[in-house]
Amino acid sequence: MQLLAFLQILACCVLLVLGNVEKTIFLGPELIRVPQQHPNLQDLFLDTLSPSTSTLRLKLPAAFSKPNAERGEASWFLLDGLRQHQRYEVRLCWAATQPTSFNFDLFTLNEVFNTPSIITSLAVYSESRQDYPSVINTPRPASAGADPVSILFLRVEASADYFTTNKTLMQNVPPVNVDIILDPYVFGVFPRSLAPTAAYLVIIAVLAWYLSGYIWQRLHQIAQESSGKDAPFNTSTASGRKTKVI
Ligand SMILES: *[C@@H]1O[C@H](CO)[C@@H](O)[C@H](O)[C@H]1NC(C)=O
Repeated sequence: MQLLAFLQILACCVLLVLGNVEKTIFLGPELIRVPQQHPNLQDLFLDTLSPSTSTLRLKLPAAFSKPNAERGEASWFLLDGLRQHQRYEVRLCWAATQPTSFNFDLFTLNEVFNTPSIITSLAVYSESRQDYPSVINTPRPASAGADPVSILFLRVEASADYFTTNKTLMQNVPPVNVDIILDPYVFGVFPRSLAPTAAYLVIIAVLAWYLSGYIWQRLHQIAQESSGKDAPFNTSTASGRKTKVI
């Protein structure tokens, strides 16, 4: 019964934590050759996630959903230098103090450039970034070379998810502080960044096993020593039970 209650409480905590993480799981797409002549991918001024730059901490613009933009404000990212057919996840974490709902979409290069509505969204975002010359010193992306690469475009749409009597906040949604993380899966089973946590849990479990054995032995010893002194009152030992039965 107690265990059940504990598990229920734990389940609630898990849900609360998940409330602030949005993620999507995908496979690295087929290798393609990216055209190098201008305008090329670098001219889009997108923030890039790759195995060498796997975390970005930034402020994402957000907006209340409107009839023509129901999922809020779109931001675009390039997922570069992926390994084809490798499983990855992209996670986005944000503070509970900034209630926002996020939507992820992943597009291949061809999907983006063959779908007018998608390329319009990307162009609008890219246009808004031309005024902010790249502030992050990212290493040269894999797609800037002549070799075929596995890349994806990530669109994150952020819509504000709150109501307040403060008019300023209802008119201008402040940007949301987020971490975006690209995480490859180990053996296609669990995210690599969880590996230290898993190792930690295993070590704790092994230590707890031996420690509990030791504590149990000590308690047993103490019980036996004390039962030797006042056996008739101790019901937990065989001799104690015998005296009661008689
Ligand atoms: C409304 O929110 C803004 C931004 O957080 C804050 O600066 C301002 O003081 C608030 N106004 C009121 C009336 O609380």
